[in-house]
Formats: sequence, structure tokens, C-alpha cells
Amino acid sequence: MTKRVLVTGGAGFLGSHLCDRLIAAGNDVLCVDNYFTGSKDNIRHLLGHPKFELMRHDVTFPLYVEVDEIYNLACPASPIHYQYDPVQTTKTSVHGAINMLGLAKRTKAKILQASTSEVYGDPEVHPQPESYWGKVNPIGIRSCYDEGKRCAETLFFDYWRQHRLKIKVVRIFNTYGPRMNPHDGRVVSNFIVQALQGQDITIYGDGSQTRSFCYVDDLLEAMMRTMATSDDFTGPVNIGNPVEFTIAELAKLVLEMVGSKSKLIFNPLPQDDPKQRKPDITLAKDVLKWEPTIKLRDGLEKTIAYFKKITG
Ligand SMILES: NC(=O)c1ccc[n+]([C@@H]2O[C@H](COP(=O)([O-])OP(=O)(O)OC[C@H]3O[C@@H](n4cnc5c(N)ncnc54)[C@H](O)[C@@H]3O)[C@@H](O)[C@H]2O)c1
Repeated sequence: MTKRVLVTGGAGFLGSHLCDRLIAAGNDVLCVDNYFTGSKDNIRHLLGHPKFELMRHDVTFPLYVEVDEIYNLACPASPIHYQYDPVQTTKTSVHGAINMLGLAKRTKAKILQASTSEVYGDPEVHPQPESYWGKVNPIGIRSCYDEGKRCAETLFFDYWRQHRLKIKVVRIFNTYGPRMNPHDGRVVSNFIVQALQGQDITIYGDGSQTRSFCYVDDLLEAMMRTMATSDDFTGPVNIGNPVEFTIAELAKLVLEMVGSKSKLIFNPLPQDDPKQRKPDITLAKDVLKWEPTIKLRDGLEKTIAYFKKITG
């Protein structure tokens, strides 16, 4: 039987690629979004597809639809956007989780939460395994996102314990690819846009802090495999690419690939910015039989081509 799958945040970067993949796999997809950071451009090619339905809706309000599976991705993901209206960010994570879990309870749907490596805060453990509880500032400028996502995880596990819901929690590490918002200040999109436009490349700190970057196709493969695991697997499971690069290395690679003469300039680090972040993906390898396959250079090539098209 064809599954009816709800994707909240479906007009966003990850959500729109997820809609593509779910439709390609033969599912009926209901995409729900309030277009805060997402865009109809990301899903325009799906409008009119018989298996695709689009609904403007804010997940902080209850939703009454009939579905078999829910991917809960609705939430601004970049600091510029989640700090724009921090109260709404917490509401989106917390009320959004309550509303979607309520929907899953009523429809007996399986529900997956897009959590984040930010639940580990500025970690004292490297790489971060799922068993690490994190080091998060509860009152800082990133807290609306970090603590909102942590509370959403709590709600998922309480609905699982209390109401026996079929839950899955994935903790996503830095992911990049086409359809990232060019103005969201995330490091990959920032560097590419600055390099393409010949502007200075802004590095926060001295560029020695490391990040690991996962290409969107790898990430979504892991996310869909998680949804397909047996009901006794809840996660949380880390998904991301464990290969580390310094921010300075990323900047130089982007400059080389774009063929840009932009200069690197160094600005102070923002508050609570983690110095190192790298997933331990042992659990994902074991349970999902998954690991990333796309090299940074190959992923960047596709991402640069996309930004050339939309900014050109
Ligand atoms: N991309 C990453 O590196 C990354 C890393 C960790 C976690 N995540 C998580 O994955 C999810 C998707 O992230 P993304 O990178 O695609 O970001 P995105 O900003 O492109 O997508 C989020 C989508 O949610 C929508 N949205 C926001 N608030 C909403 C609300 N109240 N009601 C309905 N829709 C709402 C936005 O309009 C947007 O389309 C987010 O939950 C994010 O926290 C992403």
C-alpha cells in the first residue's frame, strides 16, 4: 500500500530533497511549511505532481491530517534565522514536537525527529557519541535552538515511554548541498557566495576550529534508513561525516574550486561557538549499515554549480 508521508519543513533545504526522494520511492507526500526560511522555489518542480501536496501551515499550531509516517524537520537551522525570533524558535521546536507527536499518537504514525549535533553544545568529548549528554549553555544566544531541540528529544522519548509511540531521533551534523539558503550565514554557503561574488571571505576566529561536512544525499540516505529500522530502534543516532576539516582549509578549497581571488579576513568568534565538532558514527554504521560516500570536493562541486545558477 502506498504510504502517506508528512514532511514538516518540507520547503527547506533538507526537507525539499527529502520530498524528492520520498516521491521517487513511490510515497504520497504532504509537505507542510510556513516558508520562514524555506521557499516554494525548492519544491516548485514538484507542484502538480500527483503524489505531492503542499500546505502552508505553522507547526506551532495543531495539524489534523491522516498519515503513516512523519518526518519532523520544521525549524530554522542557521543562527541568523533562529536568533531572529528566538521565542518563536523555541516554540517551533517544542510546540511543534508536541503537535506532531500528538498527530502521530492519533494516527499511529511512525515519527522521526530531525535533531542536531547542537544538543552536544560546546563538547568536551571528541568525537561525540550518542551517549554524551553535552555541554549546553541554557541562557545564551544559541539556547533557543539547542535547548529547544533538546526538549524536543525529551518529548519524543516521553511519548515513547508513556504512549508507546514509534519514534526515531536522528542527530544531524553540518550538512550542505544545493538549495541551502544563500543568505543564512552557514559556513559553506557563506564561503561559496563570497567567493563567487569576489567579496572577502569572513572567517570567525583564527580558522583552526574544525567542522565535518556531510553532503545532503548521504544525509538523507541515513535519515530514510533510520525511518525504516524496526520499531525497537529509537535512536538517537548521529548522522554526519566524520572527516574533519579546519574552517581555513574549507575556505581555501572553495577559493580554489571557484577560481576566486577573494581575500580571507578574520573576525572574532561569536558567543558559544563550538571549537570542534565531529560525529562518532559507530551506531549508524552498525544499525543502518551506512557511512558517507561523497567526498567534500565532489559535494562542493554540485553546491557551487547551484549557487552559480541562483546568484548568477
Ligand atoms: N542542515 C544542517 O546542517 C542541519 C544540521 C542539524 C540539524 N538540522 C535540522 O534539520 C531540519 C532542516 O534543516 P534545514 O537545513 O533544511 O533548514 P531550513 O531552514 O532550510 O529548513 C527548515 C524549514 O522549516 C520551515 N519552518 C520553520 N519554522 C516553521 C514552523 N513554525 N512551521 C512550519 N515550518 C517551519 C522553514 O520555512 C524551512 O522550510 C531542521 O530541523 C534543522 O534543525 C539541519
